[in-house]
Amino acid sequence: MSAVTSIWSKLVGSGSCLPPRVVSNDDLAADLATRGIETSDQWIVERTGIRQRHIAERGVTTSQLGTEAAKRALADAGVDASEVDLIVVATSTPDFVFPSTACLIQANIGATNAAAFDVQAVCTGFIYALTTADSFIRAGRARCALVIGAEVFSRILDWSDRGTCVLFGDGAGAVVLKASDEPGLLSAKLHSDGSQMKILCAAGNVAYGEVTGDPFLRMEGQAVFKLAVNVLDKVAREVSEEAGISVADIDWLIPHQANVRILNAVARKLDLPSERVVVTVDQHANTSAASVPLALDVARRDGRIKPGQLVMLQGVGGGFTWGAALVRM
Ligand SMILES: CC(C)(COP(=O)(O)OP(=O)(O)OC[C@H]1O[C@@H](n2cnc3c(N)ncnc32)[C@H](O)[C@@H]1OP(=O)(O)O)[C@@H](O)C(=O)NCCC(=O)NCCS
Repeated sequence: MSAVTSIWSKLVGSGSCLPPRVVSNDDLAADLATRGIETSDQWIVERTGIRQRHIAERGVTTSQLGTEAAKRALADAGVDASEVDLIVVATSTPDFVFPSTACLIQANIGATNAAAFDVQAVCTGFIYALTTADSFIRAGRARCALVIGAEVFSRILDWSDRGTCVLFGDGAGAVVLKASDEPGLLSAKLHSDGSQMKILCAAGNVAYGEVTGDPFLRMEGQAVFKLAVNVLDKVAREVSEEAGISVADIDWLIPHQANVRILNAVARKLDLPSERVVVTVDQHANTSAASVPLALDVARRDGRIKPGQLVMLQGVGGGFTWGAALVRM
């Protein structure tokens, strides 16, 4: 057997960080009303399941939230920053054009032996980052990786568009992966379809000293909804089949936390009871690349996810991108 197939990556720690300011649906509705925009707690809860979101204060950055989540994940794993040899950060709201947010976090935590880079796959970003780090570990190119999803999505929202601004929040989540001879990440699958760009995008950039294009997130909600349910169902089956397990054997499903109706529809299609789906979208709203590691950390810390259990992590988002990873805890 080659060295490549005998190494697994094992998830040995997790951590997360939410900015302290909580904005309830009522707070948000009152704020939007001052600008003549009508929404309500009832509409938001009925259509999305979201009850509140955390919003970073002006000046608080993705790298700051990611650094705190990373420190908590390292502490949980009992790993010193000097042991980390790879940092992969998933974000669509980096601090700068460059350097990468991963490099900023590398310096903040003092991971002096680590390579560091960002990946950009929007709300699927954490699954892309996790799969990338797993591939490094399985190939023998890294032994201890920090994988982080961190966002300040509130910065790219058009706060006059009630169809999008009520849906998102800020936060960060992180995991530590270590090379192991015991099975950890069992299988993963990543997909993309750039022809669907228009249904979810923030199609602006910085050029010639100014923002060009549209700097705000734009979305066709219903098209995204349908696509998300369809691909999350399919990719869960693909990844289960690759690992040689039945979908019914999954202990916990952690889909990207976009909308509780999407989560319920996926669970129904997969014939998984809703009690086995981790839901944090009610508390955090959609934190893009941070949503899956945040939900994973919540469910590990409250004791729901136990060692040895099978956890399916799933992402879907702009690009379009989607993917899943099956992890033996
Ligand atoms: C965005 C989403 C919640 C909208 O729900 P929906 O049931 O599709 O609602 P619609 O877009 O059809 O809008 C229905 C009505 O509510 C209105 N509406 C939209 N946002 C509103 C808000 N925040 N408050 C009150 N009314 C609102 C619309 O203007 C529309 O009014 P109209 O019928 O008078 O035109 C839903 O499509 C969704 O969750 N999509 C997926 C989004 C997502 O998860 N994106 C991230 C993926 S990574």
